[in-house]
Amino acid sequence: MAITTKSEIELESSFYGDKTILISKTGYGKSYAARVIIEEGIKKGHTFIIIDPQDAYQNLPNFEYINSKDIKSAQGLGVLLSQSNRNVVIMTKFLTLENQNKFLQSFIRAFKRHIRKGIQTLVIDEIHKFAPEGQNTLSKDDVRGLFQESRSDGLGIIGISQRPQRLDKTCLAQAEHFAVGRVTAYRDKESIKNYLDNPDDVEKLPDLEKGEFFFFGFGLDKPLIAKIRKAETKHSGDSPKNLLNEDKILYDKHSRKYVKYSRGKQMEDNIDTNKEPLKGIIPSMEGFKDLSMLGMKAAMGTAVAGVIGTLVAARIKSPIPVVSSRTLGGLATTITLYTGFRTIPAERIKSVFKYAAAGSAAFTVGSLAFDIVQASGFRLPRLATFALATATGAQPLSVEKSEVESNVDLNTKFA
Ligand SMILES: Nc1ncnc2c1ncn2[C@@H]1O[C@H](COP(=O)(O)OP(=O)(O)OP(=O)(O)O)[C@@H](O)[C@H]1O
Ligand SMILES: [Mg+2]
Repeated sequence: MAITTKSEIELESSFYGDKTILISKTGYGKSYAARVIIEEGIKKGHTFIIIDPQDAYQNLPNFEYINSKDIKSAQGLGVLLSQSNRNVVIMTKFLTLENQNKFLQSFIRAFKRHIRKGIQTLVIDEIHKFAPEGQNTLSKDDVRGLFQESRSDGLGIIGISQRPQRLDKTCLAQAEHFAVGRVTAYRDKESIKNYLDNPDDVEKLPDLEKGEFFFFGFGLDKPLIAKIRKAETKHSGDSPKNLLNEDKILYDKHSRKYVKYSRGKQMEDNIDTNKEPLKGIIPSMEGFKDLSMLGMKAAMGTAVAGVIGTLVAARIKSPIPVVSSRTLGGLATTITLYTGFRTIPAERIKSVFKYAAAGSAAFTVGSLAFDIVQASGFRLPRLATFALATATGAQPLSVEKSEVESNVDLNTKFA
């Protein structure tokens, strides 16, 4: 869908990895425009991190809201979010301006250093507070760097300001897309004038209405005045991507280190969840396909570890007491698959290796558990044996010595 009412402006995916500036007088629709731009990006599967000093981005479905006061380490949060598919709003108004600057400096540095390929967009509202013209702040160089550096890592930036004259000129000069709404102050108009293709266009700015912007760039052949469409209120983030591609438990565990999460703070005023109580609980066709693919990848890992473990067990005697050579085979398989996951750049193959490594790890743990049970001489109840074997894919070890050849590891006969 277009971001403007008359379908004039459709945003390409690449837009979200570019540098954009939104400007207008206060109350003329910048944050609203950013929300519409974000809604479109979400539909394309991009992720957003919004630095929100004004609480202007409440209400975005499927976003997590972090209160800046709860952040224990801005750097840690930067690393965490750079590795994640989360959409996050960081509400910074609870900090003094100096601390907001400090936060952003550490956050951007860590975020940039660890960012993975794939488009992520950083939205900074009130950006003049972080990169003011003619004044130094802790975050200025880093914010400016986001505009200056030519990026190949997919990190886009959308800066929003009502005071263009107070915003660092480099940010303005380096922006590839400009949306300028109503601007009346002489100095503000002067500060943007030089960045417009036709400086006389600046005289049209005081006549713009709320929600109307003069668009420069945005994939247009020539600048255009258009009105931002109504923001969508329906849930726009129910793609299974975020839920299924990420280990939620691991994410939560790490996020606890860096932030005290304010769960339940998500304000979903516009979503009437009662009307469709099952929506989001039952997976869509797409979600079902994704789930089954994940299951198959994991099962494949279990099978590979089982086969290799058994082959190893039949040929090699384990040098470690208690641990069977089947377990060692499973461990080696897990490490190999995990190395594949960490080193292969292609996303699709990477994901096969990731879940296969998960399946293989489960097999290894199951096999080790059976080794320990065997070594201890403890007789595991049938139900527990069944549960462990089903959960991990490993079978209990057989101890029928008569069947075991003398050169084969006693602990590893695969039942
Ligand atoms: N395109 C639009 N369609 C409908 N309503 C709009 C539109 N743009 C803005 N509005 C209305 O105008 C109000 C103010 O817009 P918004 O909060 O985006 O202003 P702003 O430019 O971000 O202001 P500030 O500089 O104070 O942050 C919104 O709450 C919304 O009700
Ligand atoms: Mg605003």
